[in-house]
This record gives sequence, C-alpha cells and structure tokens, in this order.
Amino acid sequence: MTAFSPLSIGPHTVRPPVVLAPMAGITNAPFRTLCREFSGGKGLFVSEMITTRALVERNEKTMQLIRFDASETPRSIQLYGVDPVTVGKAVRMIVDEDLADHVDLNFGCPVPKVTRKGGGSALPYKRPLLRAILHEAVANAGDLPVTMKMRKGIDDDHITYLDAGRIAVEEGVTAIALHGRTAAQHYGGTADWDAIARLKEHVPEIPVLGNGDIWSADDAARMMRETGCDGVVVGRGCLGRPWLFADLVAGLEGTGGYRTPGLREVADVMVRHATLLGEWLGDERRGVVDFRKHVAWYLKGFSVGSEMRKRLAVTSSLEALRAQLSELDLDQPWPEGADGPRGRTSGNNRVVLPDGWLKDPYDCAGVSEDAELDTSGG
Ligand SMILES: Cc1cc2nc3c(=O)[nH]c(=O)nc-3n(C[C@H](O)[C@H](O)[C@H](O)COP(=O)(O)O)c2cc1C
Repeated sequence: MTAFSPLSIGPHTVRPPVVLAPMAGITNAPFRTLCREFSGGKGLFVSEMITTRALVERNEKTMQLIRFDASETPRSIQLYGVDPVTVGKAVRMIVDEDLADHVDLNFGCPVPKVTRKGGGSALPYKRPLLRAILHEAVANAGDLPVTMKMRKGIDDDHITYLDAGRIAVEEGVTAIALHGRTAAQHYGGTADWDAIARLKEHVPEIPVLGNGDIWSADDAARMMRETGCDGVVVGRGCLGRPWLFADLVAGLEGTGGYRTPGLREVADVMVRHATLLGEWLGDERRGVVDFRKHVAWYLKGFSVGSEMRKRLAVTSSLEALRAQLSELDLDQPWPEGADGPRGRTSGNNRVVLPDGWLKDPYDCAGVSEDAELDTSGG
C-alpha cells in the first residue's frame, strides 16, 4: 500500500492524515493520550465538544474538560455553539489564554435536546446563521486554524452539506470534516462516502476529511482512494480499541505490520486507561468509575462470562480492576469479528426541530440561546 500525503490544517501538518473524532464523554485527555501512544505521536486528536457558553462563563466542569496533557501538540479543541457572539468570545478566549492550537466547530450533533432548539445538525439549514458563526469564529481566531465538522443535512429532503461547504470556504474555514449521514440517520445504516467525494469536488480550495464507518486501516485507505478526501476522521472504531491508531498509522503510511492484541495486552491497556482517567480527574475512584463505560467495548468478543462483566461494570478501584482482570483467561487471542461496528449503531429517528424550522432556510428568527447547554461533554 502506498503512503498518503500529509494533511495540512493551517500551520499543522498531520502525517499520516488521520484524526481521532471528537466524542463527548470519551475523547478526553487520557483517551487522546492513549491513542497517541499507539500512533507513535502521529495524527490529530480532537477534544470532546465544549459548549461555548460554558467556556466563556468558565463553568468548572468545562474548564476541567479543556485541559490537555503536556504531551499533546497540536492541541485541538472542538466547540459547539449557536450564538455567533458567544462563539466569537469563546474563540477569542482560547487565543488570548493560549488554550489550544486549533479550533473545530461542531455542526453535527443529532441529539434531540440540541436539534429541538435549532442547534447541532439542525443549524446549517439556516445558512445566514451558519455563516455568522463561522465568520465570528474565524475573525477571532488570529493565527489559529478553524475547521468545521458536519453531517449531510437534516434528512434526505433537507441536504445542506454542499451549501455549508461553500459558506465555510467563503468565511475562511481551513478544513471541513463530513460525517456521511443525515441527522435523521443518527448512527444507523451506512455512511454515504459518495457525499464525501461530492464535497471534495465542491470545495477544492480546502482539505476535506471523510468520516463514518472506518473500522480498520483498510477502511481508511479505501475511503481516501474512493472519495479523494484529504484525511479521515475515526470515531467509534476506537471505542475500547485505542490501538486502532497503530493500525491506522501503519496502514496509511504503507508500512503495514500491525498485530491485533490478545486479552492480556487488552487488560493492560484497560488498567492504563483507568489509571490515566484517575490521574486526570485527581481521584482514582472517579477514574475507575468513569472507566466503567469503556469495559464492554474493550472486552467485546472475548470469552469473559456475564457474571464477570457485571462485576467489572461496578468496579471502583484500580486494585479491584486488576484483580478481576487477572481472573480472566488472558491467553485468548483477539476475537474474530470484533473489528467490526461498535458503539452506537441505531438510526432512522425523526429529527426534532423548532416549530416552522424548515419553512425558510434564510429566516433565522427563533434560534434559542438555550440550544447551548450550560455544561460541556456528555
Ligand atoms: C459517544 C459518541 C460521542 C460523540 N460526540 C461527538 C462530539 O462531541 N462532537 C462531534 O462532532 N461528534 C461527536 N460524535 C460523532 C463522531 O465524532 C463521529 O462523527 C461519528 O461517530 C461517525 O464516525 P464513526 O463512524 O467513525 O464513529 C460522537 C459519537 C459518539 C459515538
């Protein structure tokens, strides 16, 4: 396999062109650190989404979420906001206080409590509002590159990604990531990679990153070849599999040689992940409790037994976690089929929107400020 060209995000060169997708509640500093360790420091690792209002109000939880590990460079922060002025203020704060080296804007969130208020993946439908947000972000970013991440649109009858791509170029956005699903699809069906190819043709001026359904380096290389995109963004494939970054780097650099881990190595990574979370949260117990959500992903496909799975799901100390893992048959090789889809896979939900939202893409009255949650992540 031949190597793919590096990706440029403003002054940052991403080699090979692979990005860890922002995932709320997952891609905090410990998880990014783990993925980066497996990638040998290559790639780009984006924070979970940070609500702009919470950031400018210096919400305590948000200030904790935006902390990067000293080893992280460049530092990529993802913002979510619906109000151009607040987004501008948040970006200005990031620049003034040197909080990150790259800002990504999230226009892909399909969660009803967000779209109901006209936020997330509902927002690009209102073209002037999208433009105003991008404008304020870029205007306040100084030398920091601003990128955006979006879905194809609200549903098949309200596709927005080509218009949004053009607006992004006009407003000085540095790169665009497209998740090839509509909001209505949530995580169901398969991602439409053709849309990624169409966006690439539509905005040749800036890099386009493809996102959706990459579970292996082969998938990543195939997406790049089939769509002509400049880089890939990988989300659920990394859940309980931070070593996927070793595969992605080897595959995209054309070196190959990636080896799947057996349960013994997986158990070691689990303990390390829980340890990093505890250090980051400043409390071992909180770290192990937060780690519980990852347990099923790490053990997917391994022969563990339902009793042990239940015990692991209520573990609250590193010692107990280690002890429980040591009871497993650690000689098990990587299970066949465990490389496939994981994480959220359901879809075809009706998108909940504010009344009359779809009547006029240019009428921006009625976008509610409380579409912004006052805390981040989730
Ligand atoms: C648990 C979870 C949390 C997510 N949180 C965010 C987020 O904070 N910001 C964002 O832009 N996308 C978020 N996403 C969407 C992913 O970034 C990505 O676009 C999506 O999972 C499709 O890529 P994949 O098929 O590689 O998973 C989230 C996805 C999951 C599964």
